[in-house]
Amino acid sequence: MIELNTIEALRKQVAEWRQAGECIGFVPTMGNLHGGHLSLVDEARARSDRVIVSIFVNPTQFTPGEDFEAYPRTWEADCAALREHNSDLVFAPSVEEIYPDGPALRTRVEVPALNDILCGASRPGHFTGVATVVAKLLNIVQPDLAVFGLKDYQQLMVIRHMVRDLSLPVEIVGGPVAREPSGLAMSSRNAYLTDAEREVAPALYATLCVIAEQLKAGEHNLERLTAAGMKAISQAGMKPDYLEIRRAVDLMPAGVGDTELVIPAAAYLGRARLIDNIRLTLPAPGLQASA
Ligand code: PAJ
Repeated sequence: MIELNTIEALRKQVAEWRQAGECIGFVPTMGNLHGGHLSLVDEARARSDRVIVSIFVNPTQFTPGEDFEAYPRTWEADCAALREHNSDLVFAPSVEEIYPDGPALRTRVEVPALNDILCGASRPGHFTGVATVVAKLLNIVQPDLAVFGLKDYQQLMVIRHMVRDLSLPVEIVGGPVAREPSGLAMSSRNAYLTDAEREVAPALYATLCVIAEQLKAGEHNLERLTAAGMKAISQAGMKPDYLEIRRAVDLMPAGVGDTELVIPAAAYLGRARLIDNIRLTLPAPGLQASA
């Protein structure tokens, strides 16, 4: 596996592959790779001749006081896992390489409709940092396709909207949420959980499953469902941030007639902020007004 740190070296390698007519798949990450990341690498592998993975802990998407410094950096283990999953190239630029004029954004990419809702409400500026760095990485790598996890559903929507709005020539592929046997969505931040907190954490996904089942069973009072979900998360021992029932297509509030839904949620547990979501399809005629 080729390891590169500079944009220039990466572009040279990509140009060679392109000249040979090879199709390039890309998986951007912040490292500390787990089964979720690696499932995206496998997805890219299955769809392309060459697979490039980036590892870059992006300072501009961490809000002040968040865990940028503490974010787990596990280079050796990451490279070993990527070799095992037949990645062709790992691109690990320095902060200076990506932000030569410093990380204060002079030019930025923003998707206003999705910027300030859900996770964006608790993490101001987070999605601007994500959209900007992903736009940069897509410009640097210029892949045919890029794979992102459905685990970060709002992030995937931000990226899909950005790619469409800016006419970027790349196919965005969404990969399913990889979970622990307990149901807990895999996440680098699970490393922050104590053993006791690991017992509590699966309650987040379990709660989403219950709400999805209730919706399918015809309980369509969204306020009652979300209030009960928030309470269940609290009672399990977490501090809920939000739990909402939204339209899967654009994350706007769900309304009468909608069939494609997503239930995104976030909760604090010890040092970690956990996020998860579940998607579901209601049979026609979809959501009904309910007392
Ligand atoms: P990171 O958190 O490292 O995640 C990299 C990719 O892995 C993202 O597309 C994320 O959705 C996906 N992923 C994480 N956990 C997953 C799981 N349990 N199942 C499936 N996919 C999972 O997301 C980022 O990095 C950054 O914001 C980034 C896009 C790299 C921009 O800096």
